[in-house]
Amino acid sequence: MDEVVQLEKVCKSFVENKVLDNISFSVKTGESLCVLGRSGVGKTVLLKIIVGLIRPDRGRVKLFGRDIFRIRRSELLKLREDIGFVFQNSALFDSMSVFENVAYPFVRKDVDEAQVRERVLHMLEMVNMKGSEYLRVSELSGGMKKRVAIARALVTEPRLVLYDEPTAGLDPGTGSTVIEIIGRLNEEKKNTAIIVTHDLDVALSLADRVLFLHEGRVASELTPSEIAEGKSEEITKLFGGQEGTYEN
Ligand SMILES: Nc1ncnc2c1ncn2[C@@H]1O[C@H](COP(=O)(O)OP(=O)(O)O)[C@@H](O)[C@H]1O
Ligand SMILES: [Mg+2]
Repeated sequence: MDEVVQLEKVCKSFVENKVLDNISFSVKTGESLCVLGRSGVGKTVLLKIIVGLIRPDRGRVKLFGRDIFRIRRSELLKLREDIGFVFQNSALFDSMSVFENVAYPFVRKDVDEAQVRERVLHMLEMVNMKGSEYLRVSELSGGMKKRVAIARALVTEPRLVLYDEPTAGLDPGTGSTVIEIIGRLNEEKKNTAIIVTHDLDVALSLADRVLFLHEGRVASELTPSEIAEGKSEEITKLFGGQEGTYEN
């Protein structure tokens, strides 16, 4: 099965608020898709639909060829084990060490300790966090937390990785480091990824394809070079030279 994710005519409203209106796209193995859109457009809702946390009002969602709203819950949970999710707020366990956080996906799995240790240390090295395994989450900066969250999402080598606003709240320098790391991981691990973002740099740096989400619809679908050439006036207008709020 070449298609990792398929959405067909997905619609979702919250009472009067029509958030997603007839969204269709698919992502193939090894592909990196960015969904670019302004704050509040429905990017997080879209990711939650993809993992089956929110049920759409209409439409179909397939993961690895399976219609996730037509299978048993136990099967959905099994499919989710093949997905790494990097949350917008990193969502680390504050009371645990960096090592324990990254090793967490192996809890209750039959993997021997030495192998877990090797995987965790390898992933920490991949995100430039070698030697930080005994630090507490409370000792980390925002950028370090993000890198640990990425290591945790990828440690089991999932078939699909979802990133929710990977650079949100980071200063530009730290954001660039995170972009560089995600790009390197995509390449070296041949990850299939969906990255939702309001940061044009993320889309230009990491996407094979960019879906521009606007007013509930896929307003355009472009390659990063087409965007850089200014083929979407709307994207240039909405995202050119924007500033974010920072946290280090
Ligand atoms: N559980 C919910 N109940 C009601 N409205 C929601 C819920 N989740 C999201 N929304 C609304 O859906 C819209 C899109 O939200 P979201 O996906 O978080 O946007 P973003 O693109 O910033 O991630 C917003 O108007 C938000 O208020
Ligand atoms: Mg969001």
